[in-house]
Amino acid sequence: MKRMPFIFGKSADFKNFTDRDAETDRLVTNFKSLINTTIISPRRWGKTSLVENVTEKIRTENNKICVCLLDIFNVRSEEEFYEHFAKEILKATASRWEEMAENAKKFLSQLLPKISFSPDSQAEISFGVGWEQLKKSPDDILNLAETIAQAKKISVVVCIDEFQSIGDFADSLAFQRKLRSHWQRHHNVAYCLYGSKRHMLLDIFSNAAMPFYKFGDIMFLQKISNKNWGEFVKKRFEETGKKITLAQAEYLAEFVDNHSYYVQQLAQQAWLRTKTSCTKAIIDDSLQGIKNQLSLLFVGQIEAMATTQINFLKAVLNGETAFQSQGVLKRYDLGTSANIAKIKTALMNKEIIDISAQKVEILDPIFKLWLKEEYF
Ligand SMILES: Nc1ncnc2c1ncn2[C@@H]1O[C@H](COP(=O)(O)OP(=O)(O)OP(=O)(O)O)[C@@H](O)[C@H]1O
Ligand SMILES: [Mg+2]
Repeated sequence: MKRMPFIFGKSADFKNFTDRDAETDRLVTNFKSLINTTIISPRRWGKTSLVENVTEKIRTENNKICVCLLDIFNVRSEEEFYEHFAKEILKATASRWEEMAENAKKFLSQLLPKISFSPDSQAEISFGVGWEQLKKSPDDILNLAETIAQAKKISVVVCIDEFQSIGDFADSLAFQRKLRSHWQRHHNVAYCLYGSKRHMLLDIFSNAAMPFYKFGDIMFLQKISNKNWGEFVKKRFEETGKKITLAQAEYLAEFVDNHSYYVQQLAQQAWLRTKTSCTKAIIDDSLQGIKNQLSLLFVGQIEAMATTQINFLKAVLNGETAFQSQGVLKRYDLGTSANIAKIKTALMNKEIIDISAQKVEILDPIFKLWLKEEYF
């Protein structure tokens, strides 16, 4: 069977990766000059894909820069963070597991490191000291990348995906202070910290009262343009012997607000339904299919929402902007005007809406369509 020309749910690599030239250049420059970077965007716009592609580029171009990728989505506490962090840095900076074990012994000896192998022969590391002791002196771990960089005379770039997770750690602020106070003294290491939850990350990185204020370059990843998506989708169809016009391909991307994940998903569905030439009917039908498939999930999301939150979404969809006005409060049954801020915060925390320059936006384009066409 032919490889599918579109992918989603995995980061986009090689032929699946499009655009992002300016962002790639900026990130490559930052990695090479060891400038710390923060990347922020709503979910599924392409942060992970971007960082992985830049990492691939750096790895093939330059063997004096070692990039370490770690994802802390499932990391729930400071303790887990240290373990995960140490393990991934040891792995990324060693070419063989013996070297990894040596480095663990050499640089983390106080923590009594133990290397073992999981059934899929992945090297795992654990520490012989208890949490109480580790918590008191995480210095060796937090400085590990710098220590190894100096010892091996290389540069290290540590990329931490889903960085917003640290906001949920107990005493997150104190933890952030620890990270910052160690990392700002590193001269052979750069940190690239990225994730969603724009408001939370903005607070961490651009609030003068927070430890990570002015930590480095802040990059707000935008959506890939409609023009670029159009060309990409058309090219991928053609590479696999099928046809779609540029206008149709642009229509397809526009249909899902040029949202990276959904453009790929919708393109894949349309491609599967296309024998030789795509049509508008095929695109519409594909979107309907995706919407149906997700509707159960959306029902679940709605059920987890307070009535005023649902009413608020309805007001947003109807184009209302003066949420605090008596007319809107009454028409949509939103409670008192003091309620509005609470509703907005709750919906932002669930990553259902985003607000920038006062404008409220429902983030998931299919959820938006579903609300409009099927729910309200
Ligand atoms: N540059 C790109 N070219 C083509 N497709 C892309 C690109 N970036 C992202 N995508 C598509 O969007 C999907 C989501 O991308 P990715 O996982 O990189 O986003 P993310 O911002 O890291 O999401 P999350 O916040 O959920 O971690 C990918 O699976 C891929 O289908
Ligand atoms: Mg990601």
